[in-house]
Amino acid sequence: MREKNRPIGIFDSGIGGLTVVKEIIRELPNEDIVYFGDTARLPYGNKSARTVTRFSLENVKFLLKFNVKSIVVACNTSSSLSLPALRKKFKVPILGVVSPAVKKAVELSPGGRIGVIATAATVGSACYQREIKKSAGRYKSFAQACPLFVPLVEEGWTNDDVTLEVARRYLGPLVKQNIDTLILGCTHYPLLEKLIRKAVGERIQFVDSAKETALELKRVLAENGLKSLSRSARYKFFVSDEPERFRKAARRFLGKIPCLNKGKFSSTISP
Ligand code: DGL
Repeated sequence: MREKNRPIGIFDSGIGGLTVVKEIIRELPNEDIVYFGDTARLPYGNKSARTVTRFSLENVKFLLKFNVKSIVVACNTSSSLSLPALRKKFKVPILGVVSPAVKKAVELSPGGRIGVIATAATVGSACYQREIKKSAGRYKSFAQACPLFVPLVEEGWTNDDVTLEVARRYLGPLVKQNIDTLILGCTHYPLLEKLIRKAVGERIQFVDSAKETALELKRVLAENGLKSLSRSARYKFFVSDEPERFRKAARRFLGKIPCLNKGKFSSTISP
């Protein structure tokens, strides 16, 4: 198969990475996608760097079986904790979600005060904070772990008073720090965008790491002459636990994009 027409591999700890898939389909509708969600071992957001890196290495190995031309680490936690180890081990180009989000935030931030919300492991890794410092030394970053957001989104409580109260508690300290830009640094947070907007008001601009990663992937493929020439795309979804729950929740995460009908869902043993 011509290199350009090989699929893109995407992995996440579970279902949340579909927010990244959705943006990639929007930006690159001709690309075949193989998705792996590690539903048997999620969440990654409360695990150690060693464990997340071990899982991530296995996930990449699984995706390489499909002859992918590049890999997107949709999971913010894996991107924050494991990207250097993945790049060291594998030759295939691997893109994470942190750098594209930071690039955009630095570009947008008028006063250099950037907030980051993410899982506890992502915040603990200080990866976002380091990248912001590297890209704009004078900018200040303020990170807040929001561990309750992932289960609330998976429960479907994305427009609920309880979740709004939780958001106010998590985001209050960042608003007090007078941030002007907020990075949504977790796969699940795009589904909470409206509610977070309610909690923080209109003044703060949001950066969605899923959207920025899709745009970065589009740039990288174009620059390397790797954009697919095919007219239609095929999608394959694999999960490490039984696929039924994933299939049901997928609709919410993928929104109206009709790719679900084309997508083939399979379950696979832990890679
Ligand atoms: N996918 C994870 C992330 O973006 C959130 C879910 C989890 O903790 O596994 O950080």
